[in-house]
Amino acid sequence: MTVIRAARRMAARSERLRRQGKQLGVVPTMGALHEGHLSLVRAAVKANDVVIVTIFVNPLQFGPHEDFRRYPRNLPRDIRLARRAGADIVFAPSVQEISPTGFGTTIDVGPIGERLEGRFRPGHFRGVATVVAALFHLTKPTHAYFGQKDYQQTLVIKRLVKDLCLDVRLHVLPTVRERDGVAMSSRNRYLRVEQRRQAAVLWRALRAGRERIRTGERRASAVAARMRRLIKAIPSARIDYVVAVDAATLAPVRRLRGCVALLVAVWIGRTRLIDNLLVDVS
Ligand code: PAJ
Repeated sequence: MTVIRAARRMAARSERLRRQGKQLGVVPTMGALHEGHLSLVRAAVKANDVVIVTIFVNPLQFGPHEDFRRYPRNLPRDIRLARRAGADIVFAPSVQEISPTGFGTTIDVGPIGERLEGRFRPGHFRGVATVVAALFHLTKPTHAYFGQKDYQQTLVIKRLVKDLCLDVRLHVLPTVRERDGVAMSSRNRYLRVEQRRQAAVLWRALRAGRERIRTGERRASAVAARMRRLIKAIPSARIDYVVAVDAATLAPVRRLRGCVALLVAVWIGRTRLIDNLLVDVS
């Protein structure tokens, strides 16, 4: 496996691979790799000639008071895990390498980036879209892999790819969970033992919401209220949002129909967690 730090070297390598007609799978990450990330790498390995894992803690997508500085970083461990999962190349540029003079350009994907996460993390998806576009330019994927864990992010990336006519096929893979249902996340390690236990309430709430829909509830507000009640029973939990919305647009709806997304963003102590569940209402 090759580790590449320099942007120019990455671009030259991917250019050559594309000219050779290789299927090039890319898995963008911010490192601190866990089974969620590795499931994407393994899927990419199965379907491509060459797989690149990018590891870049992207300053553009963190707000001024967010956890950019304390975000977990452990490149040697990430390289080991990526190699074991079958990756061919780890591309791990420094901030300086990606953006020597600082970014002037930003990519704004419009309304899909402004709802929900976008309301609570202004500019977050501009940061994501901008850096993913840059990473795509450098790695030139034929296929790119994202997790459903960050559901709104997958919609943002789809919009980006469509609007900028990027020649890449997107794959969205299921959320990998711990045994108690907690979605794997690099941020779970911020949780103390007791908080980690409490974090399972996100998954419990999502399942309870889905259950309400399955037993016939069609009012979005009633489904959200059911989820909210469960979360509020945990004293250390603070809700940013808990919604049942149209899965394609994330627009609020009164009555649930078609594909519905249940989405939650909850603080457990000082750690912000997100999770989601898609429900087919038919
Ligand atoms: P990061 O949070 O490191 O996640 C990288 C990829 O792994 C994303 O596509 C994310 O949805 C996926 N992922 C995370 N946890 C997962 C889980 N439990 N199950 C399945 N997939 C999971 O998302 C980012 O980084 C950044 O925003 C990035 C796209 C790299 C741009 O900077």
